[in-house]
Amino acid sequence: MRFFWGDCVGMKGVVLAGGTGSRLFPLTKVTNKHLLPVGMAPMIWHPLWKMKEAGIEEILIVTGTEHMGDVVALMGSGKDFGCRFTYKVQDEAGGIAQALGLAENFAGGAPICVILGDNIFQDSLQAEAKAFEGQGQGARILLKPVEDPQRYGVAEVKDGKVLGIEEKPKAPKSNLSVTGIYFYDATVFDIIRTVKPSGRGEMEITDVNNAYIAKGQMSFGTFLGWWTDAGTFPSLIHASELAMGEITPFPNTQKH
Ligand code: DAU
Repeated sequence: MRFFWGDCVGMKGVVLAGGTGSRLFPLTKVTNKHLLPVGMAPMIWHPLWKMKEAGIEEILIVTGTEHMGDVVALMGSGKDFGCRFTYKVQDEAGGIAQALGLAENFAGGAPICVILGDNIFQDSLQAEAKAFEGQGQGARILLKPVEDPQRYGVAEVKDGKVLGIEEKPKAPKSNLSVTGIYFYDATVFDIIRTVKPSGRGEMEITDVNNAYIAKGQMSFGTFLGWWTDAGTFPSLIHASELAMGEITPFPNTQKH
C-alpha cells in the first residue's frame, strides 16, 4: 500500500528543540541546549543535516520562548542549509508529544520525520524514510541496543514486531532503546489529542508510539552505526567525541 497524500507531496521534517535542558545546568542557564557544541557544530545542526541527507528540506523547528531569538539567529530561513525552515514556539516544556502537536498545521496531512534535537547519530535516514513511505500508513521507530536502557524508552520486540514500549523502566524487558527518530502519518495528531500527562507531568511520546502499536501500525528499524543523545554531561561529551570528524558542515554556513 502507498500513502495517499491528496495534494501533499513529500515528507516533511520536525526537529524538537524545546525542553528545559535542566540536566545540563549551568551550561543551559543562558542558552538553549540545542545550541551547545557537539563536535564542530551546534547540536541542532546534526539532526538537520540528517534530514537534508534524506532529502527532507521542509523543516519545522520547535523551541521554547526563552531562546527562540538565538535559534532563529543561528539558523535563519534555511537558505544557507538548502532547506526551508518554519519555527513554532512551545510555551512550556510540556513534553515531546505536546511539542509535536504544534506541528499539525505545518504537516498539512503529509508524512513526517521527527527528530529530537539532542539525538546525534551516524546512519543515514534515507533507507528508513523509504521504508516508511512503502509502509503506507502508521508509524516507524528506530531502535538501538544500549548498555543503559533504563535511561530511555525501551521496546519489547518479538518475531519482528514491537509488542510495547516502556518509558524509562526500572526493570527493562530488553536492551533496545527507542531512539528519538520517529516517522508518523497524519493520524499522529489525533493520537496526541488523547494523550494525558504522565507522572512526571509530560505528554510522553512513548504513549503516542504505544497507541500505534495497539492499532498494529508500528514498524521498526535498527541503527547499525553509533547513536547517542546529548542531554547529560557524559552523553554530551560522548556525542562530541563521536561527532568529531563525522559532521560535514553545510557548505554555506562556514566562515571563510
Ligand atoms: O533520546 C531518546 C529518548 O528521548 C527516548 O528513548 C525516550 O523515549 C523519550 O522520552 C526521550 O527521553 P528524554 O528523557 O531523553 O527526553 P528529554 O526530556 O531529554 O527531551 C528530548 C528532546 O525533546 C529535547 O532535546 C527537546 C525535545 N523536547 C522535550 C520536552 C520535554 C521538546 O521539544 N519539548 C519538551 O517539552
